[in-house]
Amino acid sequence: MDMNFKALTALVISGGTLLASCNNNTAPKEESKDSTATAATAGPRSFGQADGQEVLQYTLKNANGMEVKILNYGGTITDIITPDKQGQKGNVVLSYESLDGYQQKGQPYFGALVGRYANRIANAKFTLDGKEYKLAANNNGNTLHGGLKGFDKVVWTATPAGDSSLQLVYTSKDGEEGYPGNLQATVVYTLTPDNALQISYKATTDKATPINLTNHAYFNLSAGKDSTILGHELSLKASKYTPVNDKLIPTDKLDPVKGTPMDFNTAKKVGADIGKVNGGYDHNWVLDKKDGELETIATLYDPTSGRFMEVATTQPGIQFYTGNFLDGTLTGTRGGQKYVKNGALCLETQHFPDSPNQPSFPSVILKPGETFAQTTVYKFSVK
Ligand code: BGC
Repeated sequence: MDMNFKALTALVISGGTLLASCNNNTAPKEESKDSTATAATAGPRSFGQADGQEVLQYTLKNANGMEVKILNYGGTITDIITPDKQGQKGNVVLSYESLDGYQQKGQPYFGALVGRYANRIANAKFTLDGKEYKLAANNNGNTLHGGLKGFDKVVWTATPAGDSSLQLVYTSKDGEEGYPGNLQATVVYTLTPDNALQISYKATTDKATPINLTNHAYFNLSAGKDSTILGHELSLKASKYTPVNDKLIPTDKLDPVKGTPMDFNTAKKVGADIGKVNGGYDHNWVLDKKDGELETIATLYDPTSGRFMEVATTQPGIQFYTGNFLDGTLTGTRGGQKYVKNGALCLETQHFPDSPNQPSFPSVILKPGETFAQTTVYKFSVK
């Protein structure tokens, strides 16, 4: 494994104990528009209002000059600023100019934390301990990404820890979006000295509930220079994937990728076989890894900029989505860019879609007294 996880773990543990106890209302606000101001002097930047609460944008920095910007609205990553092979910095995730962009109808979850159940639940319902729970049918009769107002559309309580870490907490009420139990979710974003963004998720509940938490960043490693990601080279350590029906719900099978366009075990261009996949890639890969262990399972390389990203996770699956529904119509985009079909890709580390209705998939049920935990790391370099 390439990542220095010992160092990372030490940093995250110390980050956790160092979390300062300041709250949003008293956090200093950056008045200056000077984005070069250092994090030591600049507090979060005001980013508008949602649900009567102030939305703030926090900046994480490291000594290499890498920056990650995050909103307390949806825990949204608005910027991951990394250098290309010439040392020129650019933002490698799709984003909007202002909060309006993030709040527009049909906004496809740019950079957001997704929950309580990321991905789809068939027919917007599931049965748990003999009781049927009904959810919002917001995607072809199914539930997608937590329902009408998922974790991506709420204001989280943010607590920064120095320049490099931000803790976000959200309490989802019993019955919210149809899910049982008061669920307390805590997500910590940490930017490490070796240019990795670690996202660690934890949650507890007071009633049994399904849970699946992820981040929905749309990556384009060219940082706006290339309008699509078809030339990016992707590898995925997965010998199986979950085939889907026409509404993107998994059948209960795990199919081998060998000899199919789904095989990314050897890195290949995203565009190489995409034409053979109906609608483009939008599937869950079954990762070849030990359950619960943090392992590098994906790499992404943009040969033009030289940017390279490694993805490590503790999760059993990853949704690789090639921005098939982007069509250039989103408004308020950063710098007025047109986000066209395949303009970016998502690598959403997760449990398998529709697991609450699929007994053969790994369980997603969190019970009182247990702690849900997932860790995902996106590490950036050039080559
Ligand atoms: C889903 C896509 C969906 C996108 C935006 C992805 O996680 O797999 O089908 O269009 O999110 O909502």
